[in-house]
Amino acid sequence: MGKKIKLGVLGGGKNSLIGVLHRVASTMNDSYEVVGGVFNSKWDDNLSFSENIGLPPNRVYKDIDALISAELKLPEAERMQAVSILTPNYLHYEMTKKLLENGFHVICEKPFTTTYQEAKTLYDTLKKSKKALGITYTYTGYPMVRQMREMILKGAIGKIQKVDAQYYQGWINSIIHDPEKRTSTWRLNPEKSGISCCIGDIGTHAFNMIEYVSGLKIESILADLNHLYPDNKMDIDGTVLLRCTNNTKGVLRASQIATGEENNLSVKIYGDKAGIKWEQENPNYLYFMEEGKPLQVLKPGHQYNSELSLAGTKLPPGHPEGIFDAMGNIYHGMAKAINNQPYNSGEFPNIMDGLRGMDFIEKAVESHQKGNIWINIEN
Ligand SMILES: NC(=O)c1ccc[n+]([C@@H]2O[C@H](COP(=O)([O-])OP(=O)(O)OC[C@H]3O[C@@H](n4cnc5c(N)ncnc54)[C@H](O)[C@@H]3O)[C@@H](O)[C@H]2O)c1
Repeated sequence: MGKKIKLGVLGGGKNSLIGVLHRVASTMNDSYEVVGGVFNSKWDDNLSFSENIGLPPNRVYKDIDALISAELKLPEAERMQAVSILTPNYLHYEMTKKLLENGFHVICEKPFTTTYQEAKTLYDTLKKSKKALGITYTYTGYPMVRQMREMILKGAIGKIQKVDAQYYQGWINSIIHDPEKRTSTWRLNPEKSGISCCIGDIGTHAFNMIEYVSGLKIESILADLNHLYPDNKMDIDGTVLLRCTNNTKGVLRASQIATGEENNLSVKIYGDKAGIKWEQENPNYLYFMEEGKPLQVLKPGHQYNSELSLAGTKLPPGHPEGIFDAMGNIYHGMAKAINNQPYNSGEFPNIMDGLRGMDFIEKAVESHQKGNIWINIEN
């Protein structure tokens, strides 16, 4: 792969949920080194955190504008080439736009923006910039998810006749039932989160997974969302009926009030020859259910897996691959795009995934608000 890509990071500071995942994953395949960033909005926290992770103070900036202006003054060989955006959602648009316009590659967390219009604007910005952009729909990086995609693509399950994805969590229980706490998390504040909480945060993962593994496009949706309390502005649960290409129908279920659930994401695709399913909490098992035959369980690292799956497995079979590995695989794919090397389109989610994700979120809310009507997804 040659020299390591110099990576900047926005957000992901002390106590953030996702920061450590990106820092570890980006360095996993020896293709990046983190050289600086803006890790917190508070200067003291920013500085102490970056010191803790061993960064020089001259590469830690007070905000994105200071980062861009100082980095552009550095010789090209020292300058950040790519920047990861791990802040709350409402900052993704502005940060992505400024970075692309100033010649940086971008790796952005999902949801891509807070509105579909913002995502469309960024589509144009990206085209003009000629830079690489990836969206970290993390679960697409698991070797057995990649295997599922390749098997479906090669016809292993026959003609798809039903799709089903679920993402159930229960974490918001401790917040949603307390009128004070309901206003204290950014995920329940539309100004910081966008118009949806549950569908925007995890429903969008399920949407992306269905399209990623099945190769189908979700063409129209009917959503029934749940806010639980009249003073809560954001959905925290929802069921969405799906109509996809090739007249395939299905369902997407997402919840943050599924009491006791942790990160219960599963995706199941049923064809006329076989069914195939994957569960995030047990990610090293891919269940292949051929009509009239005993259940087969496929595992990572074996030669029966596809090239795409094997390329995302670093150790011999029996060493479990986890979420760090999945994110590492996405970073690895992005590194190829940044270095202008060939890559498989399944190696990282791109601008279209970000765009379609935002369209889905807005249409789900619209469908619910208009009395649970069918609405088309645009792209
Ligand atoms: N891919 C996934 O599976 C996954 C999982 C969790 C979160 N996420 C996404 O990651 C993003 C961050 O989520 P999180 O749970 O880590 O949030 P968090 O609230 O735990 O952390 C946010 C971090 O951003 C920092 N920050 C806030 N404003 C900033 C600014 N102006 N400049 C620089 N830093 C700033 C905060 O100090 C904090 O360190 C969200 O978009 C979320 O949807 C993705």
